[in-house]
Amino acid sequence: MTIIVEQPELESEVVEKKVDVEENELVLDGGFEVPDTNAFGQTFRDYNAESERQLSVEQFYRTNHINQTYDFVKKMREEYGVLKRVEMSIWESCELLNEFIDESDPDLDEPQIEHLLQSAEAVRKDYPNEDWLHLTALIHDLGKVLLHPSFGSLPQWAVVGDTFPVGCTFDESIVHHKYFKENPDYNNPAYNTKYGVYSEGCGLENVVMSWGHDDYMYLVCKENKCTLPPAGLFIIRFHSFYALHRVGAYKYLMNEEDVENLKWLKIFNKYDLYSKSKVRIDIEKVKPYYLSLINKYFPEKLKW
Ligand SMILES: [Fe+2]
Ligand SMILES: [Fe+2]
Repeated sequence: MTIIVEQPELESEVVEKKVDVEENELVLDGGFEVPDTNAFGQTFRDYNAESERQLSVEQFYRTNHINQTYDFVKKMREEYGVLKRVEMSIWESCELLNEFIDESDPDLDEPQIEHLLQSAEAVRKDYPNEDWLHLTALIHDLGKVLLHPSFGSLPQWAVVGDTFPVGCTFDESIVHHKYFKENPDYNNPAYNTKYGVYSEGCGLENVVMSWGHDDYMYLVCKENKCTLPPAGLFIIRFHSFYALHRVGAYKYLMNEEDVENLKWLKIFNKYDLYSKSKVRIDIEKVKPYYLSLINKYFPEKLKW
């Protein structure tokens, strides 16, 4: 594998500060190193950093928070859950995604396929035996095909960005929380309490999340009978649920299985965030390995 690394110096101190490691978390010796800055020379996920992209990111979240209602998500799940739009392989969908760059992301300015392989290769280096986690990293963002004309060219606010439960209160830790005040659910007593339509420990599987590439890719995997372990599917569905994995919001909705899966999600998330730097990947060189994993866990053609 050829990876040309053009990163700023790595400091272990930064790793300590930025990555919360819980006592019971699955951690590996000599784990992943966190670069200081992203492709724009700023710290990661700094939504207040003055950058040319910042305004459009804030605008993005305003639209997202106003429109992601419980009814909207229910409709989208019904509409996209039938998977009648396209038939294609996992690798074909990687290539399709290559046409897009993620507007909501203040850290990323590279084609998506680079990000997918950066994450997967970084995970592979540190967890060589967890092949399901390598593949999970490769495919976690494939739901972004929703931006493509074949999928109705959904607007960015309905595809990318942080996700959160709908049908219960919008936790204050959610990025740009103030814009939820304009969401109709904000004043709906059926949806604006701590539990809303849910109950304590009901399990995240039963929680309706704001609509985007995460939930869509999860539906694609399930309906196409992919054989990734539950932790892989959990990562795919909740990898943008930052309120949960960064500050522990909504933990009261989790069940025991979620607690186990969340350990893997926290591991994965370091790679999802911090591999978005100037690490170039030789795609043709690593492709055979990933094709073998796709073959192991997925049918040749999937319904999308
Ligand atoms: Fe994502
Ligand atoms: Fe990602």
